[in-house]
Amino acid sequence: MTLKLDNMNEVAEAMVSPGKGILAADESTGTIGKRFDQINTESTEQNRNAYRDLLFSSDNIQEYISGVIMYDETFHQSSLDGGVSYPEYLASKGIIPGIKVDAGAHDLAGTDGEKITSGLDGLDERLAAYRKLGARFAKWRAVINITELNPSDYCINTNAHALARYAALCQSNDIVPIVEPEILMDGTHDIEDSFVVTEEVLHTVFSELYKQGVQFEEIILKPNMVLSGYDADKRAGVDEVASATVQCFLRSVPAAVPGIAFLSGGQSDEDATAHLNAMNQILGENKPWNLSFSYGRALQQPALKAWQGKDENTSRAQEAFLKRAKLNSLATLGKYSTDQE
Ligand code: 13P
Repeated sequence: MTLKLDNMNEVAEAMVSPGKGILAADESTGTIGKRFDQINTESTEQNRNAYRDLLFSSDNIQEYISGVIMYDETFHQSSLDGGVSYPEYLASKGIIPGIKVDAGAHDLAGTDGEKITSGLDGLDERLAAYRKLGARFAKWRAVINITELNPSDYCINTNAHALARYAALCQSNDIVPIVEPEILMDGTHDIEDSFVVTEEVLHTVFSELYKQGVQFEEIILKPNMVLSGYDADKRAGVDEVASATVQCFLRSVPAAVPGIAFLSGGQSDEDATAHLNAMNQILGENKPWNLSFSYGRALQQPALKAWQGKDENTSRAQEAFLKRAKLNSLATLGKYSTDQE
């Protein structure tokens, strides 16, 4: 199988085609190190390669997974069976190779602990090099925190500006940008606060994308769902989250955007699946965009736990990963139910 995708709109549509979603396997070396700590596994280059290989070589992963986001190290690593570079290996399975290109969130000077994502310097050249090696889409994550005083307009505006600069550079290099403004779940805020901030951030991001000439048909939006904070007194349930998120996105995301692929953001695996399913049920056939997933933790946690860094656990870990991939695939169609868990 080869990837026959002629232009960025086709790539974007394929990334969110019904029944499929994106595997975010682009944890930086620091972040994957933290995940490995939880299973007492040393974060060596070899172990990181073995773990990503386990995910990518799972049987028929392409039935549920349209694309994979990789970190630079993985992008340059190769399959254990056959030594094929991962962009090529994934493409041969009909899976679209993607690359994380931001350089992480750093302190935003002049604010009370807010963050700005860096990585614009030299980005044009890096994108051209990744495109030559097979990347068809990229990812850039902006981080927004809700507290009593934040987010500030300054933080929202600077992050939206950087996201749009990145997206315009991607498109000029024939790479579909995943535009990811993530409002964190950390904190005591309630679902109404999450709604207000998410709506404002999305309006600001789309206004910047427009001003900088980004084609909406050639992007994927990767947002948070509208959720109560982890430490909120009363946390909203599945139906409330789904209807608030749908309402917020209907208000702020242009219909020209092919798809919204949610991040999981620390929700439980089951919640991430149930929320996506409920949203697809609310929208039914008449949705302006496809609603899918681009989960990291909510796809990988059970696999990591089953693996424990041991070769002999590889098949069990692959089964655990495929189970989540399949259930989330069903959720993109509104066909998931908790008794399938
Ligand atoms: P989570 O689904 O674990 O939030 O990760 C998705 C992601 O890519 C964050 O940038």
